[in-house]
Amino acid sequence: MKKDVRILLVGEPKVGKTSLIMSLVSEEFPDVVPYKVEEITIPADVTPERVPTHIVDYSEAEQTDEQLYQEISKANVICIVYAVNNRKSLEKVTSHWIPLINERTDKDSRVPLILVGNKSDLVEQSSMETVLHVMNKYTEIETCVECSAKNLKNISELFYYAQKAVLHPTGPLYCPERKQ
Ligand code: GTP
Repeated sequence: MKKDVRILLVGEPKVGKTSLIMSLVSEEFPDVVPYKVEEITIPADVTPERVPTHIVDYSEAEQTDEQLYQEISKANVICIVYAVNNRKSLEKVTSHWIPLINERTDKDSRVPLILVGNKSDLVEQSSMETVLHVMNKYTEIETCVECSAKNLKNISELFYYAQKAVLHPTGPLYCPERKQ
């Protein structure tokens, strides 16, 4: 049984990573957020799976690539956040973030990924159709969720899925045919 779970949020600038973390912790949408919040530890007894959980923010404005790579290698699960009203931020999930994470993690023990479409309060239409294509292509994506830091929709669910992806993975995280 795992001792604790380390969740890292990555994604393009301004998609709402910091807001998601702050909305989870304070149960209200923060009007003003810093580029990055310090690592947050949620004690075991208030998490759904009863495991201490660390949540780690990332900000391109404040961190070097080297710091990002270190966080990627320490993470047990990575949430790749895009904004549902920003198509470019979703394109970057496949053109930039997934390849970067795959390069930086051990092929035998891939970290589970969660695709997070934030700012669902701003659009009528869901991005799920595109996202399902992406999920079919990359087996390391454990699940996807659309949420809103602003109206607190699916926020606790998102962090629950992340915990669950580590403690009870469902996908084939080990892909023998990809081994060299
Ligand atoms: P970087 O620090 O640049 O990486 O940005 P970030 O991904 O941490 O985004 P941040 O939390 O700073 O949010 C960027 C902007 O989006 C802010 O103006 C937030 O208020 C806004 N925002 C974040 N989440 C939501 C949301 O769910 N809905 C709406 N409407 N706006 C949001």
